[in-house]
Amino acid sequence: MSQSDNKNVVFHAEGLTKTYQMGEVQVHALRGIDLDLYQGELVVMLGPSGSGKSTLLNILGGLDSATSGNVTYMDHNLVMASEKELTEYRRYHVGFVFQFYNLIPSLTALENIAVVTEISRNPMKPEDALALVGLSERLHHFPAQLSGGEQQRVAIARAIAKNPDVLLCDEPTGALDSKTGIVVLEALQRVNEEMGTTTAVITHNAGIAMMADRVIHLADGKITEVHSNESRLRPKELTW
Ligand SMILES: Nc1ncnc2c1ncn2[C@@H]1O[C@H](COP(=O)(O)OP(=O)(O)OP(=O)(O)O)[C@@H](O)[C@H]1O
Ligand SMILES: [Mg+2]
Repeated sequence: MSQSDNKNVVFHAEGLTKTYQMGEVQVHALRGIDLDLYQGELVVMLGPSGSGKSTLLNILGGLDSATSGNVTYMDHNLVMASEKELTEYRRYHVGFVFQFYNLIPSLTALENIAVVTEISRNPMKPEDALALVGLSERLHHFPAQLSGGEQQRVAIARAIAKNPDVLLCDEPTGALDSKTGIVVLEALQRVNEEMGTTTAVITHNAGIAMMADRVIHLADGKITEVHSNESRLRPKELTW
C-alpha cells in the first residue's frame, strides 16, 4: 500500500503564488498552487527548468515566503509566521538536501553532522545517521577525501540526524552519475521507510519517478498533473 493512502495531511497549500519583482519586471514563479502532502509519503516533483519547483520547495521549507495564498505545515501557518518562527520551524522540523552538498571542508563527516545535532532537540547519534546512509567506514574522512556520492550521503545524514519530520531535497542527484545517484536515492528511500520521514525530491530525471508514492508535475508555476504509483520501485530497479 502506498503511504499516501493513510491520508494524514502534513502540508496544505492553497492558491499559493510567488512573484519576484525584478526592477520593472515581475516574474511569476508560482501561479496558484493547491497541494496536500501526506505523512510519510515520498513525492517526486518534476518539471522543466524555471517551472517553480525550487520556489515551491523553499516555501514549504520556510526558506522563502509566498506572495499570496496559504500554506500550513501541521498547525504552523507558514504565511503568517515571523522570521523567528520560520527559523524554529526549519530547525526543528525540516531537513534540506541540495544539489551541492555544502559540507564544511575543515570538518570530518562525523563533525559535519555534530554541528547540527548539537543544536537539535531530539537528534540521532551522528554515527547512527552515517550508518543509515551506508557510511560507517567513513566517519573520520574530510569532504575532500570522499567521492561526490559519499559527500551527498553525508549531507543526507546531516539532514536526517536531527530527526526532521520532513526531508526536502532539491536535485539531490543532479551532480552525480547514474550509478552514484542510485546509491544516494537508496539512502533517501531507506530514511523514508525506516524513519517515516515525509520526503519530497525535486529532479529533472523522469526515470526517478517510479520510486515515489506520488509524482507531481509542474509547468509554468502550476501543477499540471499528480499521479500515484501503485507500488514503488527500488532505486536500482529504475531505468534512467
Ligand atoms: N530570487 C529570485 N529572484 C527573481 N526571480 C527568481 C528568483 N528565484 C527564482 N526566480 C524565477 O522564478 C522562476 C522559477 O524558478 P525556480 O528556481 O523555482 O525554477 P525550477 O523549476 O527550480 O528550475 P530549475 O529546474 O532550473 O532549478 C524562474 O523563472 C526563475 O528565474
Ligand atoms: Mg530548481
